[in-house]
Amino acid sequence: MRIDIVSIFPEYLAPLDLSLPGKARAKGLVDIAVHDLRDWTHDRHRTTDDTPYGGGAGMVMKPEPWGEAFDALLPADGSATVVFTTPSGTPFTQAVAAELATHEHLVFACGRYEGIDQRVIEEAGTRGGVREVSLGDYVLNGGEVAALAITEAVVRLIPGFMGNPESLAEESHEDGLLEYPVYTKPPSWRGRAVPDVLLSGNHAAIADWRREQAERRTAERRPDLLLTSSLVHGVEVRGAE
Ligand code: ADE
Repeated sequence: MRIDIVSIFPEYLAPLDLSLPGKARAKGLVDIAVHDLRDWTHDRHRTTDDTPYGGGAGMVMKPEPWGEAFDALLPADGSATVVFTTPSGTPFTQAVAAELATHEHLVFACGRYEGIDQRVIEEAGTRGGVREVSLGDYVLNGGEVAALAITEAVVRLIPGFMGNPESLAEESHEDGLLEYPVYTKPPSWRGRAVPDVLLSGNHAAIADWRREQAERRTAERRPDLLLTSSLVHGVEVRGAE
């Protein structure tokens, strides 16, 4: 997979050299390049924003540098998908991560200020795929942290990245539930014992306990997920009506 990230703060993306994406790069599974949007400006101040038409507070990112960035980065065959990170996008979920992980080429466009001129998003749509994605219902100063988070979530789903792919299937959100509580040695720590069932060797009982814990945790913390899961899987959820 090829990932290009365009930002006016390329140094914000330095963590991509570390940790999981760094490992994927070292393994040759992904080729990541970070670009400074200001490289596609031509004035002395390397301007990337201007006042909004129609008035109002804040600044809007100008279309011209983005257009030149797309000319340089998007292949003519429409094979790339541009991901705009924005608080007005659709929510980023594990399902979106899995979908993005199937793409050969992603280009992240990190907006700042009040956003990017709408014509840039329209233009990108004529040059390949477009996704407008939000990390969550809060406002960051720019899309860089969102691009980092999305890249990490996507890259670890590329086949061959995880040493043990089974751990992917068992983690939170894969089955629509939060993950059950986990324990390791020692069996008793500061007077707190590991639940007996986990030491029993009874695999069916352990699976039942984990499922029940995952459902309880999800009901307490994320009842919205149970509703979604019941709609998707046709399961009856008590108290959901
Ligand atoms: N840029 C600013 N806030 C954001 C958010 N919540 N998600 C994605 N990009 C953003």
